[in-house]
Amino acid sequence: VFSHIVRAPEDPILGVTIAYNKDSSPMKLNLGVGAYRTEEGKPLVLNVVRQAEQLLVNDRSRVKEYLSITGLADFNKLSAKLILGADSPAIQENRVTTVQCLSGTGSLRVGADFLARHYHQRTIYIPQPTWGNHPKIFTLAGLSVKSYRYYDPATRGLNFQGLLEDLGSAPSGAIVLLHACAHNPTGVDPTIDQWEQIRRLMRSRGLLPFFDSAYQGFASGSLDTDAQSVRMFVADGGEVLVAQSYAKNMGLYGERVGALSIVCRNADVASRVESQLKLVIRPMYSNPPIHGASIVATILKDRNMYHEWTLELKAMADRIIRMRQQLFDALRARGTPGDWSHIIKQIGMFTFTGLNSEQVAFMTKEYHIYMTSDGRISMAGLSSRTVPHLADAIHAAVAR
Ligand code: LMR
Repeated sequence: VFSHIVRAPEDPILGVTIAYNKDSSPMKLNLGVGAYRTEEGKPLVLNVVRQAEQLLVNDRSRVKEYLSITGLADFNKLSAKLILGADSPAIQENRVTTVQCLSGTGSLRVGADFLARHYHQRTIYIPQPTWGNHPKIFTLAGLSVKSYRYYDPATRGLNFQGLLEDLGSAPSGAIVLLHACAHNPTGVDPTIDQWEQIRRLMRSRGLLPFFDSAYQGFASGSLDTDAQSVRMFVADGGEVLVAQSYAKNMGLYGERVGALSIVCRNADVASRVESQLKLVIRPMYSNPPIHGASIVATILKDRNMYHEWTLELKAMADRIIRMRQQLFDALRARGTPGDWSHIIKQIGMFTFTGLNSEQVAFMTKEYHIYMTSDGRISMAGLSSRTVPHLADAIHAAVAR
């Protein structure tokens, strides 16, 4: 009965790692998936995460019972505070409902399913380009996906005029996906002034903001600064959805720990929304896993551990910034044709190099460098040792 099934292509991002794993060359380098690596090219478990895990293991009162459908209550409260701010009036007024979900993807999917069932507009606008999983998540949830202009290849920066025009002509009430910070894949964010203009335009047209916050702390190194875009929308009293992931900022990739918060007009609406979120979650995966959320809650509620986390996060963000500078310098030293200043201007984990798919294929074939075909490289996968190799490959690809 399954013999007619055709083989599906690998995922454009996770498939890069599969191809990398098959390569036996000692010079191979994986700059595909956005996962932090140390200077030695190794995955990193934060010290503060190890400490939290030790505390959890030593606590004999902990059991492995099911969490509730909405997850660990402490984790949800602390996650809302982390993204909305400790003194957020929306939290104080009980207007926010937060549910623990399976990292960023799961939070987006639960939010999308909720909107598809209960929101009057089925159209969501996503930036062009955006993370490759976004259109799939929203389409499968039953929303109709349209895009708005975001990136300008000519300036390798924001196409702000195009963005305003497209959101300005979106139908009233449409949902708009916004990257809270460190836009993936471009590394290009609006300035605070531009965010304010976007907010005003969206509110005047009744557009519903759905933030994807996958890199809080990775753009500027400061958790509060990176949450500013979200907080501006929450401050005006209107509705906001936000999906949070702890994959990158706590290095909890495989723990699948994240949260969906929906900011409502009042406490009564928020509690009714939560009751409906439970109906979305229960048939999907019943209730979320306990371990990752316990790690996060342990860190967020302890002042010293929280402080240590911010230092470790800043160290990761700073190492990525050093990689940007080193790559830029290495290309300049080689006299590689073109303006590469966007490498140091873009922020977050990724550089959107501007290399095309043929150049990427050449770099993979000749230099064993693995990256997504849109020319995105994960700066977090780079080290001082591997920068010269990447610069040689880019130089050769551009000079062909
Ligand atoms: C990425 O864009 O590389 C990350 O968000 C990982 C993923 O799941 O795609």
